[in-house]
Amino acid sequence: MRLTDEERGWLDGTRGPAVRRAMEILVALGEIYDAERLVPIRSAQLAGVSYANLGDAGLELLEAWARDGRVACPATLNPAGMDLVAWRAQGIPEKFAERQLRIVRAYETMGVRVSCTCTPYLVGNRPAPGEHLAWSESSAVTFANAVLGARTNREGGPSALAAALVGRTPAYGLHLDAARRPQVRVRVEAPLDSAADWGALGVAVGLRAPDRVPWIEGPPPPQEESLMALAAALPTFGGTPVFHLAGATPEADRWPPPADGFVVGRREIEDAYARLDDGADGIDLVYLGCPHATPETIRRLARCLEGRRVRVPLWIAAAREVLERAEADGTAAAIRAAGGTPVADTCFVVAPLRGRFRRVVTDSAKGCFYARGANAMQVRLAPFDACLEAALHGRMPARRAPPAAPGSPDASGDAAAAPLTARGAGTEGERGGGGPGAAAPADRGAPSGGPAGAVADAGPWRGRAIRHGAATGTTLVSPEPLSFYGGVDPVSGRVVERGHPLAGRSLAGRILVMPTGKGSTVGSYALYRMARAGTAPAAIVCAACDTVVAVGAILGEIPCVDGVDVGRIPDGRPAAVRGEEVTLLD
Ligand code: F3S
Repeated sequence: MRLTDEERGWLDGTRGPAVRRAMEILVALGEIYDAERLVPIRSAQLAGVSYANLGDAGLELLEAWARDGRVACPATLNPAGMDLVAWRAQGIPEKFAERQLRIVRAYETMGVRVSCTCTPYLVGNRPAPGEHLAWSESSAVTFANAVLGARTNREGGPSALAAALVGRTPAYGLHLDAARRPQVRVRVEAPLDSAADWGALGVAVGLRAPDRVPWIEGPPPPQEESLMALAAALPTFGGTPVFHLAGATPEADRWPPPADGFVVGRREIEDAYARLDDGADGIDLVYLGCPHATPETIRRLARCLEGRRVRVPLWIAAAREVLERAEADGTAAAIRAAGGTPVADTCFVVAPLRGRFRRVVTDSAKGCFYARGANAMQVRLAPFDACLEAALHGRMPARRAPPAAPGSPDASGDAAAAPLTARGAGTEGERGGGGPGAAAPADRGAPSGGPAGAVADAGPWRGRAIRHGAATGTTLVSPEPLSFYGGVDPVSGRVVERGHPLAGRSLAGRILVMPTGKGSTVGSYALYRMARAGTAPAAIVCAACDTVVAVGAILGEIPCVDGVDVGRIPDGRPAAVRGEEVTLLD
């Protein structure tokens, strides 16, 4: 990567140690992903705020950065682990609150605006089309790319902070046209009547095409709340932080639609609901506002609750600034009068609610995924109206599948999810240009499922060193991408994502082999925290390493190699990683 003389000086420390460290991260990422230069950014959105996620390791890292680091562009903050003002009323322990407030102070010292929301675009940080950003928070990243037409990779929390301190980010991945090009056509032939339905669409598309930029057609342009739900679910269940929706998103017309793809019908939508349904007996929380609620959703809830009283705790979370407006116009008071709780600064995933609520109903597919992993909740995905019903009556109505759209595969009895062409979803020639910030190519050399699919040779396999180093351990092969936040318990190092092929297995000390990372951008901090706690993998080998895993490996000093034909590496065998080489030892 070419640096200007000024940038070279920053790397040498002319702007102090924090900017030097930040430049080291940015230059490492730029070199890894073949960026030609740094590009100035309009703003940064920083994930990695909750003490529940960062632990003491993350807190100390941030306080070290805050000693002399100051942001060089507007920067906003993701939700914290508690209401920063009313945390006592929320039942937050003193020790947690003390650490959480230190984290927020560290960010504030660096000049970050303490917005504490995953919807910065609702509180003034709303980028214009074509603007370059360094955003973490996967739902906001996807919303910015797809709905606003801005340009950001799915940054890990530390790489977004590094970019904020420098004011620039390496120009690769979704900053470039090639990675934004649609790669798979998705025809939706199911009615989508609620934000929860749009989240279910994100689940279906993310699972079916985790590595490709989808071009979606069929539904009429939806409300912004539905686009937010799709933007939240898609990268949670897949990895693609951009989509194009015909007739609705600004870049959908820039390219011809891909020739190959698949249909999402009623069956796929219902499968998504079923995947996020752990049963509804004994609901003890109804949660709305993931991503954080818009003013319209808050008003809608207030209208629906008029003259009624909830029987189950009902939370609606939003940015503090949005809730202040709701306080001013009386809608927050109306929700409280009905027994509901407006929640600022935090959410049911990043707050320490483990054991306090066990069964939650929510209209967020993303929320279901992370509430299971982060707070051990049993979940049920349901549309807004059914959530309301659950809060008012303490029980869930049985889910009634909507009627199939006329002429859809479901209506005609044909198989849903049929490929659009005989060749199925996508061709090799169309998959290029994804880049690490877009969608890591999970099927390029993806593991074939351990010993059964492995080819019995001993390597060595060569790739590209993301983080140089040497390690030995036993291979642990995942055929699917893994999220280090929400998918792994950092204390034990065990995979906790339900249904994941590695569920229940410990990563500690193993040579983890996987296609790529997925999910939350807090994963970088989670990996760093695991390294500090001794629960991290000894080394990570990927087909295509995404930014979140790369930054976590750099910070945690975990040897990491990508570009390896990981489908050839067998599970459960002693192996060594040295530099850019992986070798079996037996
Ligand atoms: Fe936001 Fe929490 Fe959902 S950070 S996107 S409300 S998991």
